[in-house]
Amino acid sequence: RNKARVSTRNMAMSRQKKLDKMDVIELAAEKPKPEFNFRYGRTPGKMLFETHDLVIGYGEPLSKPLNFYMERGQKIALVGTNGIGKTTLLKSMLGLIPSLSGSCDQGENLQIGYFEQEVKGDNKNTCIEELWQEFPSYSQYEIRSALAKCGLTTKHIESQVRVLSGGEQAKVRLCKLVNRDTNILVLDEPTNHLDVDAKDELKKALKEYRGSLLLICHEPEFYQDVVNEVWDMSKWTTKVL
Ligand SMILES: Nc1ncnc2c1ncn2[C@@H]1O[C@H](COP(=O)(O)OP(=O)(O)OP(=O)(O)O)[C@@H](O)[C@H]1O
Ligand SMILES: [Mg+2]
Repeated sequence: RNKARVSTRNMAMSRQKKLDKMDVIELAAEKPKPEFNFRYGRTPGKMLFETHDLVIGYGEPLSKPLNFYMERGQKIALVGTNGIGKTTLLKSMLGLIPSLSGSCDQGENLQIGYFEQEVKGDNKNTCIEELWQEFPSYSQYEIRSALAKCGLTTKHIESQVRVLSGGEQAKVRLCKLVNRDTNILVLDEPTNHLDVDAKDELKKALKEYRGSLLLICHEPEFYQDVVNEVWDMSKWTTKVL
């Protein structure tokens, strides 16, 4: 239009010349850096978990009768070789699976943020739907921003969770955790599929987190700056190692 109008023709032609000389570049691929800022809820009671002769396992016992105590403010790494029963212990403590005998008491006002090691199932939700189920009051914009903040691109955000890579799926699950009020995080190998950047960011976020932490992790470089105690499952197992 400007080229056709006499009064703007010269300007438009010179702009056209400039444009013709420019190299067309590819847009840099969207590669957002994740940021995990966990929300802290209310202050729980002093006791978080207390077991009474708790024996875990499936049919056969995996542990001796356990009597331990977890207190507000503790940040603990739970370590031990594959198959020793770390995941089973967490699930028993949370009451997700029955224990063989004994019990585990939970403290007052716990707001538990649980990250499962493996999530199976036939879930066809997109990331947006997945988050919306958890936070129905969010606007579409808020859902998208929350996912982008966890390092997911627009393309991932609109895809079904089940087609994403392990690392991308972990980011979706972390997104659900960080945006909820919690006062204790129970994380089962959260770093398994994460890349270096995401791992560094998660480490930083866990260091800053004001609540308590029970973390299963096989990497000392990750947990040693984050926790103030290490619990070794090999002391509790019935297995001969
Ligand atoms: N649903 C189940 N039914 C029967 N046995 C199970 C079940 N889930 C796990 N096991 C067995 O219980 C033992 C402990 O498993 P668990 O998943 O707690 O180990 P883990 O310490 O978390 O190992 P990893 O480091 O590989 O995650 C293993 O020998 C496993 O094969
Ligand atoms: Mg496990």
